[in-house]
Amino acid sequence: METLDKYRNKWREVPAGDDVDGRVFSAGLLDLPDGEFLASWGRMAERRASGAMAWFRPLYRDYFAGKRVLEIGSGAGVDGIPMAAFGAHWTFADIVPNNLATIRRVAALKGLEAKFHLIDDNLSFEALTPGYDAILVVGSIHHVLYDITRLEALNALRLLKVGGRWIELVYPRERWLREGALSFDKWGQRTDGERTPWVEWYDMEKIRRRLHPATFKIILDFDLRSRDQRWVDLEFLGMGRDSRKFIDIPGPVIFEAGERDGWTFAGSKGAFHPIARIDLAPFLDALTGPYEIEVTVDVRQGVVGLGLTDDHNAHLPDSELVVDSGPDIQTLALRFSGRPKHLVFRNRHEDRQSIFTVRRVTLREAA
Ligand SMILES: C[S@@+](CC[C@H](N)C(=O)[O-])C[C@H]1O[C@@H](n2cnc3c(N)ncnc32)[C@H](O)[C@@H]1O
Repeated sequence: METLDKYRNKWREVPAGDDVDGRVFSAGLLDLPDGEFLASWGRMAERRASGAMAWFRPLYRDYFAGKRVLEIGSGAGVDGIPMAAFGAHWTFADIVPNNLATIRRVAALKGLEAKFHLIDDNLSFEALTPGYDAILVVGSIHHVLYDITRLEALNALRLLKVGGRWIELVYPRERWLREGALSFDKWGQRTDGERTPWVEWYDMEKIRRRLHPATFKIILDFDLRSRDQRWVDLEFLGMGRDSRKFIDIPGPVIFEAGERDGWTFAGSKGAFHPIARIDLAPFLDALTGPYEIEVTVDVRQGVVGLGLTDDHNAHLPDSELVVDSGPDIQTLALRFSGRPKHLVFRNRHEDRQSIFTVRRVTLREAA
């Protein structure tokens, strides 16, 4: 696996407060005498507290107080230091020594206690004592390749208590689409400055896949800054089974309306217009629940709903994924523990027809 050097080289610069404030080199901050150093840092923290993240402190201050929180990718500490001042037991973790040195100096000047962990190329968190109440990740690990991030995230997760929270800020797929669906090695230059080697979009589904076989309950999942960022807060329910058992579902497809050519469908306009369904009953007994249905789909036009219905043709609660068209082929997962009757595809836009190809439908044993 590649080393973190190129990411370390970029992230010698950290966000200077709010998103519109650009970045500052931590070595430059560290060069300042104490008074100026603290004043500069204070202005950044103030900008953070009054900018796009202004809701963060009021929302989490009381929750974090007295709790052990690990922050991965803590930048200049503008989120963590105020929380430590409000009584949280904060551990700052980062890949860049000078970023941690900046926070260490702020903490010392403010008389605050905190722990620090330098993440090296082995991505280990073993030096830290398990039993954290929360892991906070604000726009950091999405800046390295998925495979590295997955390893790092799973290593960190070993420290989290069952019932603890995984809280993360990411950039959503719709922003990636809006900004031209660039390759991830190019997109970072748009989002975080020209020296940025990588940024990858995430949504709830992709965060959960990255942390598989961990299981979670969703606490929060909302857009920020005109849908440029997304905030996800998950309660950790423990590690689930790591089954690799699956079966591909070959059909048959029960065609309902629109047009069909093999596995390519054109759904008629209408926010809930039915298109096709697949009877799941013949497949469920081959595996043991809880299940997950993974659908790989290429939505070229419009908006498609993938959902699960019961014997009365009613959608199961919270069981529909709504997929916008895009240039990429998407893989989505529907999780369930009961016995749905059908996997259904329907049009989900009142004024637009959908055109899509289903590439693969797989039933898996879920975590
Ligand atoms: C965009 S900054 C965000 C900093 C801070 N969370 C904030 O919102 O101000 C990214 C930070 O994550 C760190 N970082 C980048 N990749 C990382 C990784 N794989 N693991 C941990 N930290 C990482 C960088 O060194 C930098 O401090």
